[in-house]
Amino acid sequence: MYDKIMESVEYINSKVNRKPKIAVILGTGLGDLVSEVKEVEEIPYENIPNFPVSTVKGHEGKLVFGKINGIEVMLMQGRFHYYEGYTMKEVTYPIYVMKKLGIEKIVVTNACGGINKSFEPGTLMIINDFINLFGDNPLIGINDERLGPRFPDMSEPFKLEFIDKAKKIGEELKINYAEGVYAGFMGPYYETAAEIVMIGRHGADAVGMSTVPETIVANYLGMDVLGIACITNMATGIQKVKHSHDRVVEIAQKASIDLCKWVARIIEEI
Ligand code: HPA
Repeated sequence: MYDKIMESVEYINSKVNRKPKIAVILGTGLGDLVSEVKEVEEIPYENIPNFPVSTVKGHEGKLVFGKINGIEVMLMQGRFHYYEGYTMKEVTYPIYVMKKLGIEKIVVTNACGGINKSFEPGTLMIINDFINLFGDNPLIGINDERLGPRFPDMSEPFKLEFIDKAKKIGEELKINYAEGVYAGFMGPYYETAAEIVMIGRHGADAVGMSTVPETIVANYLGMDVLGIACITNMATGIQKVKHSHDRVVEIAQKASIDLCKWVARIIEEI
């Protein structure tokens, strides 16, 4: 895997001469941040050796390099989901590449369901911890010590200093934000009502099908993570209507106006 990662990194470095320290992973319907980027250079995933390719509606697959508020960033437009059939190693492959590109900080965003009843569709939730319910883990297998430790610490998966800055900026910008625990299920079905009752009792405030694998690997690699979840619907059993992916995308797109303002400022300060 190490050689594959380096091959991807060499390709990217041969195409763009940029040295971002921050990456942002854009969740479903949250791609608008791309329009804030100046001096854009893009690389489609399919051109990058060893990179998986995205298949989901609402996701485009490319790396976007450029500047937001004068800060060099790399956006990942389109991510890989476990439910698409990728292995955990494939889902998290871009994180390894980011690390070797010199990226130290990652902002992870997603669209997810709200379990905490004080939330409503459109709430932006700072993720302060996660529960891994994927039944799998990207770090399983022989460990390459060049990348990270066999038994990584996971006591601060989302950096407290980033959370504090996000809150401060959120208040300044009057963002409708909350804070809570994100539970990651493998999907692709929206959970059952009983599953939601179970994880709600165990401390989950929101539920989704991404973010956890990438956050695990980023921590393993020694990178600092900020997670922001967009509550696009209330979870099964809490919301009375049935789920629809189109509705998820619609709410995420509306919320992305605030998310973009917020993340653009956060990038300046972390
Ligand atoms: N559950 C899981 N994933 C989701 C949801 C949900 O309710 N909404 C958006 N992504």
